[in-house]
Amino acid sequence: MPIILSDMSASTHVPVLAEELLGLLEPSAGQTVVDCTFGGGGHAQMIARRLGGEGTLIAIDRDPLARERFEELARELPCAVRFIRAGYADALRELAGEGLRVHAVYFDLGMSSMQVDTRERGFSYSYDAPLDMRMDPDQELTAREIVAGWDERRLAQILRDHGEERYAGAIARAIVRRREGDPIESTLDLVDTIAAAIPAPVRFAAGHPAKRTFQALRIAVNDELGEIDRGLAATEQLLAPGGRLAVVSFHSLEDRRVKQFLRDRAGAAPKGSRHLPVAATKEAKPLFRLIAPGGVTASKAELAQNPRARSARLRIAERTDAPPPGTPTEVAA
Ligand SMILES: C[S@@+](CC[C@H](N)C(=O)[O-])C[C@H]1O[C@@H](n2cnc3c(N)ncnc32)[C@H](O)[C@@H]1O
Repeated sequence: MPIILSDMSASTHVPVLAEELLGLLEPSAGQTVVDCTFGGGGHAQMIARRLGGEGTLIAIDRDPLARERFEELARELPCAVRFIRAGYADALRELAGEGLRVHAVYFDLGMSSMQVDTRERGFSYSYDAPLDMRMDPDQELTAREIVAGWDERRLAQILRDHGEERYAGAIARAIVRRREGDPIESTLDLVDTIAAAIPAPVRFAAGHPAKRTFQALRIAVNDELGEIDRGLAATEQLLAPGGRLAVVSFHSLEDRRVKQFLRDRAGAAPKGSRHLPVAATKEAKPLFRLIAPGGVTASKAELAQNPRARSARLRIAERTDAPPPGTPTEVAA
């Protein structure tokens, strides 16, 4: 019997930490702002209102559904708009390569409610669907390919690294054993295999038994952590001095990367670290100044309205006027 639980509630387009993002990003009339994860456009609509007729919003998303949503919304947005359908790391590098310098860049990481709610895309362990999980349907790698083809060691590794799954080894073993008989074709085939691999007394101890494996597969399929690293690095080139970078993340794997990047670039050693900060060791000027160094979490009022905000953390920093890494320095004659 497949185990079907629906603790992944049908989500809505409520943008998370929206007031906080607006308050700290401080978009104002006439500016150019980049939304790296347009999704349903919830944050973008609020930002666009602040930019007004003279401002420009550049929206990025790799999902064609987000493009459709953008086309619906674009007519109503008061500012100039542009949509780039691509991974944000490539798109940001392309914009910087065009010589553009912008006032703000923000990311709202993870899946959109549209993606979760489109059952056939296989993001949810609550519905039976093909094992897909691609944010960009033109990409080749799917969750099915990983589940069907990766060896046990590699499977266990991603479940551990991207899912922080305690039973990574047992689940990887169960996947390999199961697929030797029948291929694992659907989300619920996979949910069954995962549930059976976790000892019954603790199967539901940390939420749905498939939650961490699905997260791990989704992160691997979409190379989400690599995109974060490359995307953040690209903002160094694209932000004008005084421009702001904001990231809303939903789990510690994402947040840790953002925190580390900003601490390195702000020249601040992590608390308790024996190591010198990157900027200090190179005697370079910090590239960013941290704003709200510990990050910002959702208010009680928002949590009461939107439980999805529970794990959200917003980190924000301001670009200094230090030249980006790789900029040739002038040599005195
Ligand atoms: C949480 S949703 C954004 C929701 C949006 N802020 C709103 O208010 O409606 C994340 C979106 O980012 C997109 N996305 C995630 N990673 C991406 C990447 N590396 N490049 C481009 N788009 C990405 C997803 O396709 C999804 O549409």
